[in-house]
Amino acid sequence: METELSKRLGIEHAIFGFTPFPAVAAAISRAGGMGVLGAVRYSDADELARSLDWMEENTGGRPYGLDVVMPAKKVEGVSEADIEAMIPEGHREYVRQVLAKHGVPELGPDDVSGWRITGWMEQVARNQLDVAFDYPIRLLANALGSPPADVIARAHEHDVLVAALAGSARHARHHKDAGIDIVVAQGYEAGGHTGEIASMVLVPEVVSAVEGLPVLAAGGIGTGEQVAAGLALGAQGAWLGSVWLTTTEAELPSRVLIDKLLAAGSGDTVRSRALTGKPARQLRTEWTDAWEDPAGPGTLPMPLQGLLVADAVSRIQKYETEPLLGTPVGQIVGQMTSERSVQAVFDDLTRGFERAVDRINRIAGPSLSRA
Ligand SMILES: Cc1cc2nc3c(=O)[nH]c(=O)nc-3n(C[C@H](O)[C@H](O)[C@H](O)COP(=O)(O)O)c2cc1C
Repeated sequence: METELSKRLGIEHAIFGFTPFPAVAAAISRAGGMGVLGAVRYSDADELARSLDWMEENTGGRPYGLDVVMPAKKVEGVSEADIEAMIPEGHREYVRQVLAKHGVPELGPDDVSGWRITGWMEQVARNQLDVAFDYPIRLLANALGSPPADVIARAHEHDVLVAALAGSARHARHHKDAGIDIVVAQGYEAGGHTGEIASMVLVPEVVSAVEGLPVLAAGGIGTGEQVAAGLALGAQGAWLGSVWLTTTEAELPSRVLIDKLLAAGSGDTVRSRALTGKPARQLRTEWTDAWEDPAGPGTLPMPLQGLLVADAVSRIQKYETEPLLGTPVGQIVGQMTSERSVQAVFDDLTRGFERAVDRINRIAGPSLSRA
């Protein structure tokens, strides 16, 4: 699974793996792909430095990357407390009601309330980058739009390629104009924030929209056959996120959640604003249903919704409240039916890729091979 881009980056397989877990990112790089560590949960830059130290020790000199969530629109002079103050009391009351209905206890005095999605703030992402550029990262990816011009220039000074996710050909063209090196065409099937266009339609559209730039196919890829399909559509690699969640190296907060993922079918996800305020594909749960309920107040825009639900999500995770417990994950969850090591995922991807190539070769027959 070698392409021009994989050769340029010095990786054996054109497989790019987004993950919030350093152990998974390092294992992806060791297996011959490009592990890309999600930084959004690191509001403390020292903690990110510790994780990158660990990556350095555990990637055996193989390339790896970092993913930040830097908003295209700059928000200045606004603190987390300012944003908290904008949350209506009715919404807070609704959260209390949903949790009470399921008997979810309060956090204990020593519990740290979880992830508060502050990584979306430009200053937080900039602090992360100040740390990251001291490490030999090879790739910097941005989730929400093109990073600012000075960040792209700084990455290039450090010989770091810049990737950005795109959910439409229009986004992709914007990235190209902004000087991005790699576009990740991420379809509607994907886990996390997604647009409305399926990968099968999006990937070739983006490939032609940004002619000359390498494109990675993302969304709904969990097998080698699907990697082959992405490459056949003109992508130079595949970008996978969901499939790593049920690897043995992943550090999901709860056994109940892992079992839910293993049991879920491809129809058990929903694109919901419940977690962040922007549409993000995740397991459908009674929590996501509560935010669709016409009797409820509905979701708030990003970043209010993320702050509103941060404590609730921590409580649901801590007490493993099964009906409410979820995670971002894509439709590929239906094929995530057993726990495997990252290396075993790579072995399966390679075998599936070979099967797909054989099939196509048999269909194409000698006349096409000669052409
Ligand atoms: C649990 C989870 C968290 C994610 N968080 C981010 C993120 O912080 N930044 C980002 O660029 N993409 C994020 N994504 C999206 C992935 O980068 C990737 O595009 C997506 O998972 C690909 O589709 P797939 O889920 O079908 O493999 C996330 C995906 C998942 C499953």
